[in-house]
Amino acid sequence: MLKKLFVSVCLLCLQQTPMMAQSKPLTDADIWALIKKMSVEEKAGQMTQLDLGVIAKGDICKLTWPQSIDTQKLKLAIQKYHIGSILNVGCGSGTMSLAQWQSILSDVQFYNQKYSKNGVPIVYGIDAIHGVNYTQKGTLFPQQIAQAATWNPALIQSVYEATAYEMRATGLPWNFSPVLDIGRQPLWSRFFETFGEDVCLAQKMTASAVIGLQGNQNATDQYHVAACMKHFLGYSFSLSGHDRTPAWISERELRTYFLPTFKKAIDLGAKTLMVNSGEINGVPVHVNAELLTQLLRHELGFKGVVVTDWEDIYKLVDIHKVAANKHEAVFKAINAGVDMSMTPNDFGYTEALIDLIKQGKLRLSRIDSSVFRVIKLKNDLGLFQVMPQQTYPKFGSSEHAALSYQVASESVTLLKNTNQLLPLKSVKNLFVCGPSAHSLNALNGAWTHTWQGIDTTFNTQGKLTILQALQRKSFKVNYALDFQKAQQNGFKQYEKAIKQSNCIVICLAEQPSTEVPGNINDLTLPEDQIQLVKSLKQFGKPIVLVCSFNRPRIISAIESDVAAIIYANLLSDEGGRVIADCIDGSINPSGKLPFTYPRYANDLVHYDRKHTEDLNIDFSMTAYNPQFDFGFGLSYTQFQYADLRVSNDTMHMAADSVMITVKIKNTGLRAGKEVVQLYKSDLVASVTPSVKQLHDFVKVELLPGQEKTISFKVYRKDLSLVNQSLKTVTEPGDFKFQIAQLFTSIYVQ
Ligand code: BGC
Repeated sequence: MLKKLFVSVCLLCLQQTPMMAQSKPLTDADIWALIKKMSVEEKAGQMTQLDLGVIAKGDICKLTWPQSIDTQKLKLAIQKYHIGSILNVGCGSGTMSLAQWQSILSDVQFYNQKYSKNGVPIVYGIDAIHGVNYTQKGTLFPQQIAQAATWNPALIQSVYEATAYEMRATGLPWNFSPVLDIGRQPLWSRFFETFGEDVCLAQKMTASAVIGLQGNQNATDQYHVAACMKHFLGYSFSLSGHDRTPAWISERELRTYFLPTFKKAIDLGAKTLMVNSGEINGVPVHVNAELLTQLLRHELGFKGVVVTDWEDIYKLVDIHKVAANKHEAVFKAINAGVDMSMTPNDFGYTEALIDLIKQGKLRLSRIDSSVFRVIKLKNDLGLFQVMPQQTYPKFGSSEHAALSYQVASESVTLLKNTNQLLPLKSVKNLFVCGPSAHSLNALNGAWTHTWQGIDTTFNTQGKLTILQALQRKSFKVNYALDFQKAQQNGFKQYEKAIKQSNCIVICLAEQPSTEVPGNINDLTLPEDQIQLVKSLKQFGKPIVLVCSFNRPRIISAIESDVAAIIYANLLSDEGGRVIADCIDGSINPSGKLPFTYPRYANDLVHYDRKHTEDLNIDFSMTAYNPQFDFGFGLSYTQFQYADLRVSNDTMHMAADSVMITVKIKNTGLRAGKEVVQLYKSDLVASVTPSVKQLHDFVKVELLPGQEKTISFKVYRKDLSLVNQSLKTVTEPGDFKFQIAQLFTSIYVQ
């Protein structure tokens, strides 16, 4: 009954008819005709994005709850400033129901129709980072790093399709997702928002995200939304690992590691892009015309909207110190290639932009091209059109929850399983403790109901923590509610319970956080969690460690103390059930690490390292010694690889390709999924080659005894590198291929 009410309320939202309502989308000529009639103020407005807090009741960051429109403030924003876009919930604070969203969004469109001179609709953008995290009862999916751990691009496409669907059900057409920054700095507070460290894996996940969000059409179909690739470029690789601090990245590195995901998304038609808040090589990206115009527009051919990140034009003055005042900052950012400013808390940018245009300092043609791109985005999203009524019966449905469960279950990664402790078939009595044992927030991470994801007020009702899910199993579960207090007195009050148990499950976690609040100075697991494991070790029971971290926290001090390790990433609302199902064997884990898990805090070498990084102090080539390798993950069954073959041992012509095949067999006793990973190595090159790089992969499911032959095609162009002249070329020579412990090679002429 309640669901029905929400669906019909949402329909009202879609019935709002824009002032310039069309039966067909506008043509480019229509858009230019519209721009011709617009005043300077109207154009500057289209290039402005405000936070909801500016037009909501209450003061910014002290808004009345639930948030709702202050009509006087909205009138000012539309009538005087002609604003083109609004974002998020005010101050990143809280999750609203469909009905509350409906009221906000219909007010925005109603007052826009009433007060707007040009009738151009306002486009609403939101961080739907892992599902519609700002809509109550919406479906939350595992975070991006957990999505990547599935190594299942088709499954991840469904996640983005469902997210787009639930966004449209809420009335929101523009998603500030996916994060396409490559996770090669594990200290970074937003590591969990990436698809991991590898270009090949991240590119495949990028394609899933863009196609899933936007569909194959123009996202006008009311079931898809505009994607926003972020944060262009090099945001994830600051030297210190702290958020928004300097990155020093050579052009070869940029092109090799950080650009390919963006290129992939642009080639697939991603509609919008958000700029990196930080700086590369001493230049804030918001003023870098070489990146935002030369590379992005001229070389990559991006035609969509470039939006700044939060307050970033002001930060050019206040933090980066590359502009003396607001006017200079606006001038530099717009000239570098920005189309829209996420200002977002006042009209200072809009006023400065109007001044600069009126003073003739900014070319009108430069402004018009941005306004065109913004209006075209709105047109592509169907905002000018009278759309047919749609219903969204799958919003927050059990079908979407099942999808979230499936993703989490394919993501959960078994890193250690001494003597096949897991699954706990014969174990009946568990002692459970640790910071994530009874916390939905720890499973969800940041961008969950609130920006930092710490507030428990809005947690999805009915979702189970790890503890609750274990309690529903046939285990007898004892639990230390306050593990820190229990630890202080050596678990005295739990001594009996622990002694009676046959296994201890310790659930470690990082407090949810992102951006600057998530900065840390040491990747090592906090001391209290190390000591938690050490003190429980004294009881001599086998320990299962469950890790829900924002980034790979160093666990080398305790790794040998535990019998099994389940790496859970941030699995979200279904994570509790999935972890319990992994522990009792209801699911067979098939996740693989999408990053190299470091053993030491200062030894952050990636699997696709250079040969020099293998050189040890005794001159042996064994220095690469991560805690767990990229692509690693155990199963409750065993797989055997055989017969690695290549169709031809030489490639002669530019368009040549070879086929690589391998046989894989499930030699264990239960069905399981395995990721077949093909690695390539360029043996000698003009720039130092990587020891190996992932070339392609496929996830297969095999019944006990079942065998399959897997094939991969390799083209000559797939063996390329970025050479000393920064050109992408394939150089002649020998190339080696590896699948599991099998090798083959070819010669490229
Ligand atoms: C983040 C972006 C996000 C934006 C809007 C910024 O602080 O860096 O990723 O999309 O806020 O919430």
